[in-house]
Amino acid sequence: MRLVRLFVFTLLCASFATAIGAQGPLFSAEARQKAQALLKQMTLDEKIGQLNQSSGKVMPGLASEKPDDLIAKGGVGSVLWQMDVKEINRLQHIAIEKSRLHIPILFGYDVIHGYRTLFPVPLAMASSWDPSVEEQAQHLAAQDARAAGIEWTFTPMVDIARDARWGRIVEGAGEDPYLGSAMAQAQVRGFQGAQLGPESVLVCVKHFAGYGAAEGGRDYDSSYVPEELMHNVYLVPFHAAENAGAGSFMSAYMDLNDVPASGNSWLLTDVLRKEWGFQGIVLSDAFAVGNLTTHGFARDPQDAAYRAITAGVNMDMASLTYSHNLAQLVREGKVSEAYLDTMVVPILEAKYDLGLFEHPYVDESKVDAVLSRPEGLSLERKLAARSMVLLRNENHALPLSKELKKVAVIGPLADSATDIEGGWTVEGLFGGAGKSNPVTVLAGIKAKLGPNAQVTYISGPKLSKVYPGLLDTFNGIKPTPPPTAEETAEWIAKAKAATADSELVVAVLGETSGMSGENASRATLDLPGIQEQMLEAVVAAGKPVVLVLQNGRPLDIRWASEHVPAILEAWYPGTEGGNAVADVLFGDVNPGGKLPVSWPRTAGGEPLYYNHNLTHEPEDRPNFTSRYWDVNSRPLYPFGYGLSYTNFKFDNVHLSKTSMNVGDTNEVSVDVSNTGSVPGDAVAQIYIHQRYGSASRPVRQLKGFKRIELRPGETKTLKFPLGLNELQFWSPQKKQWVVEPSDFDVWAGEDSTAKLHADFTTTQ
Ligand code: NOJ
Repeated sequence: MRLVRLFVFTLLCASFATAIGAQGPLFSAEARQKAQALLKQMTLDEKIGQLNQSSGKVMPGLASEKPDDLIAKGGVGSVLWQMDVKEINRLQHIAIEKSRLHIPILFGYDVIHGYRTLFPVPLAMASSWDPSVEEQAQHLAAQDARAAGIEWTFTPMVDIARDARWGRIVEGAGEDPYLGSAMAQAQVRGFQGAQLGPESVLVCVKHFAGYGAAEGGRDYDSSYVPEELMHNVYLVPFHAAENAGAGSFMSAYMDLNDVPASGNSWLLTDVLRKEWGFQGIVLSDAFAVGNLTTHGFARDPQDAAYRAITAGVNMDMASLTYSHNLAQLVREGKVSEAYLDTMVVPILEAKYDLGLFEHPYVDESKVDAVLSRPEGLSLERKLAARSMVLLRNENHALPLSKELKKVAVIGPLADSATDIEGGWTVEGLFGGAGKSNPVTVLAGIKAKLGPNAQVTYISGPKLSKVYPGLLDTFNGIKPTPPPTAEETAEWIAKAKAATADSELVVAVLGETSGMSGENASRATLDLPGIQEQMLEAVVAAGKPVVLVLQNGRPLDIRWASEHVPAILEAWYPGTEGGNAVADVLFGDVNPGGKLPVSWPRTAGGEPLYYNHNLTHEPEDRPNFTSRYWDVNSRPLYPFGYGLSYTNFKFDNVHLSKTSMNVGDTNEVSVDVSNTGSVPGDAVAQIYIHQRYGSASRPVRQLKGFKRIELRPGETKTLKFPLGLNELQFWSPQKKQWVVEPSDFDVWAGEDSTAKLHADFTTTQ
């Protein structure tokens, strides 16, 4: 019996790797040969140089001098935080002309959701439930980045986020490993193409791993994630990205189960390299190698270098800890030169495959034209509209008529060019102005209604990210003081007057782009400032109100969800965001996005996720189930939820087998019909539940989805496989991946509460 089980399991592992798209060798055979030949000519210091990524910017407190001298000595393998093409070329000339072996520098940067044309933030793109949105956006971003001299991007961020207080939820695909895997793979394809080459941008999958589980949602805080949860949830999108051919990974900042991720050999060697067979580069997060001492993990910088390199970090981002300490470690015999060679080789291979040896320089004359391509902007507008989620639409409040003559727009974000694109704006990142000319929602509405309509704008007071009294030391910016009682009254009076003089109000509320992202956790999920008061005041004035949310995380909108008839979640929709919002509001685009997160009612409900386990009592019992008594414990809007201007019906769920052997593949089919009167996009979602086995399994798990367009009256039959990939899980008792004999529930429908049900059995 035992033998049979083991046999089944071995089979599973092999199938798993191929089924989700494992590629051949990461780097080409030619690159491998050239890298090996070059390695033979390199001194120890030159090898260590390749393992160093230097800051390309002189920044107070971070890097105090330009890396010129180090580059000339062959001491820099890569440069980050430099996006001035002239400076990129200048540094590259030093590397090619002055360093002994003329090895080009690999320039890296955070091209997260576009270069000059900013696409919707990643959480928004995940809301499209259409991986081709990510693929198209990142393909264009890759072309832009390469034209501007960036060959390596620190994307995709695939951290699972189950807690909206964590500001970096905006950078990923939300809470679900299956959706997250699809989005991760699409981004790898978008940036790298089918194979790494001179047109590709090398991806860096981050933050490996468990970073999204920060305690209390406080960025950088420790994560405690048991092994089964790592395998079944947090590591899943990383493995998917690896299988899609991702060339590099970034080791995270935080402690994972008391071992900092950047010194964690279980993560970087046992899982990533030995279990998954990864042959690419591991880059630390910025300063993470040096900071192994700050964690209270490494004794001193030399120990930090030792811990990081032996754990499996190839390249040290910005801390210079490798540069200063590795040679000594090799001389003392603590790190062998042969091991060091294995760390250097993938970096050289990537440089060969990316074509840097042939074409190390940027053509400065072409950069601006590429970055300003109009097709980029039209693609952005299309993908932004595709990423929006309609949360509420009572009595068909939307779409709006284009005949409106008097509209009031309120809210501090409605005309803020710095807040429509979200964080990680490449050209505007270090305080400089971006060159993208973003379209705000106010501008989008004005453009849609034309010059004959009167659009009145009342902003309300500026929002402040920090509580009064806290100095935001990173930027040296003093917090905006909260408005006084008189100022508040004045703004509210202005908003009411504008409402009284209009046919309709569009409230654009949410968070500034700096309120989410890195180093941007929040203890509450409230609408910051006096936004809620302004909203309540205009709703009380009795005119139709539409709420457009511009934000990087779900917010506490309990009041709005009961009193505002139409709510559109736009996230940070990007450069053409305002036009895209207007396209959806006025019905030129029928929204089809769905939530990639369970929407909490309040911060106290976090962490919140749909794929939780059952408890000791059935879920529908009034007592003794897992719940809060003071606030409804269920999400305000469930994972996978989103409305359309039409209606869909799901019917005829059918399984190809009612019983099958473990290891076989079942097929679920379902009919989806558009029962409304306008064309629209449905997202069919398939969820499963394993009823019993060697471990309790989540109440539901997403195991298939597809976004389709349907004309009124049209029906499509969709089919989804349920085989090894979908049914396996890592068993904490067996300490391995298994598919078990059990009974399985299957649901098909529009969100994670879908009712349409079928079931099947697996037998040994
Ligand atoms: C720190 C962030 O955690 C990471 O996501 C980013 O890629 C690096 N800084 C480089 O900017």
